[in-house]
Amino acid sequence: MTYHSNEQCTMFSTLLLLNVIVSCQADLAAPVINVSLDEPPEVRWAQLLEVYDTDYLKKAAAEVIDTTVPKWVHHAVIPVVEALEKYVPPPYAGEIRGLASHVGGSITDIILLNFAYEISAFCTSIIAQDTSGHLYHGRNLDYPHDILRNLTIDILFVRNGTVAYRGTSFAGYVGLWTGQSPNKFTISGNQRGKDHWWDWWKNWVSAFLLKSSPVSWLVRETLEDAVDFQDAVMRLSKIPLITSVYYIVAGVKPGEGVVISRDRKGPADIWPLEPWNGGWFRVETNFDHWVMPPVKDLRRDAANEALNATGPDNINIYTLYKVLSLSPVCNRITVYTTTMSAGSPEKYNTEVRQEGCHSNV
Ligand SMILES: *[C@@H]1O[C@H](CO)[C@@H](O)[C@H](O)[C@H]1NC(C)=O
Ligand SMILES: *[C@@H]1O[C@H](CO)[C@@H](O)[C@H](O)[C@H]1NC(C)=O
Ligand SMILES: *[C@@H]1O[C@H](CO)[C@@H](O)[C@H](O)[C@H]1NC(C)=O
Ligand SMILES: *[C@@H]1O[C@H](CO)[C@@H](O)[C@H](O)[C@H]1NC(C)=O
Repeated sequence: MTYHSNEQCTMFSTLLLLNVIVSCQADLAAPVINVSLDEPPEVRWAQLLEVYDTDYLKKAAAEVIDTTVPKWVHHAVIPVVEALEKYVPPPYAGEIRGLASHVGGSITDIILLNFAYEISAFCTSIIAQDTSGHLYHGRNLDYPHDILRNLTIDILFVRNGTVAYRGTSFAGYVGLWTGQSPNKFTISGNQRGKDHWWDWWKNWVSAFLLKSSPVSWLVRETLEDAVDFQDAVMRLSKIPLITSVYYIVAGVKPGEGVVISRDRKGPADIWPLEPWNGGWFRVETNFDHWVMPPVKDLRRDAANEALNATGPDNINIYTLYKVLSLSPVCNRITVYTTTMSAGSPEKYNTEVRQEGCHSNV
């Protein structure tokens, strides 16, 4: 087993003193920004510009769109996006308008950007309960765009001076695939099934005319509104979505952990932790847990084996991070790893995998 040598990097850099460039591949904590929910949506994201410069964001957005959307489609959808813009619900409409003006880009491009990420996030999510009943939740987000490493941010959503919830996202993107409501629950989302760029317009119409939720918006709304784990699971199970997805949720009390396999209209399957029955952890990648993954995809087996070897006596936020660092659970396209535990909200941590992991995998 090769564990990612994160600690070694830190040790090296300390030994070699301050102004020596560390030559090993160092993973970095994601930058943190505040978004105040007390401010109007149009100006909430202004702190982004303290971390990124406008030109960089503009270039990055263009690169993501160019590599995700064929050029002719980009041109073809601009009028559609323009026509639908008025259907984007609050607060996202205002936030997207604000982002477009902060970044100096067009609103249609920021909307496209928000939907570009919506369709292809490969991931591994793990929930686990230790022998004292504490819950841990970790996720790798895999996505084949190097630039996303530079755009990964942790966001504190602040209301009246306290952190209402937090999450991990990409600069310019208003939804969340990963987040925590402190002392209540944590959520991650993994892609389920294959959607294609030619389904976009359907997703659009479905989102704004039929009022289905983009999956990352429902994560954010659940973090904002749900009062506890049960409430979160209900919302994530039944609110109509524009596409299928896996939602992985952990709470704060023993047994509060579940993998929800979602169809657009409702739950296809609910797979809870059953710690009293050997089910002290659950691993979800991008395949239904009741079917075998493709033979080439070894992420699920590797994670299951490593968790088995770790055991419920030894699982904690650090050993969970180690499992998420193993090859091929962490791989060439892994962008970031988040580890969290709603009962200890201060431990929330996102590590950007600067060059991916195990570059030969
Ligand atoms: C990410 O940022 C680093 C340092 O700022 C830069 O060297 C690198 O080229 C950037 N990567 C991409 C894909 O833009
Ligand atoms: C905001 O926080 C202050 C101080 O903690 C408290 O007195 C006030 O009631 C809070 N306001 C709202 C709207 O929650
Ligand atoms: C973010 O909000 C938290 C909670 O109100 C506060 O403690 C922190 O100083 C804020 N950070 C920035 C950079 O504004
Ligand atoms: C994990 O351990 C259980 C019980 O010991 C065993 O049934 C299962 O096959 C193991 N799974 C893996 C992937 O090693």
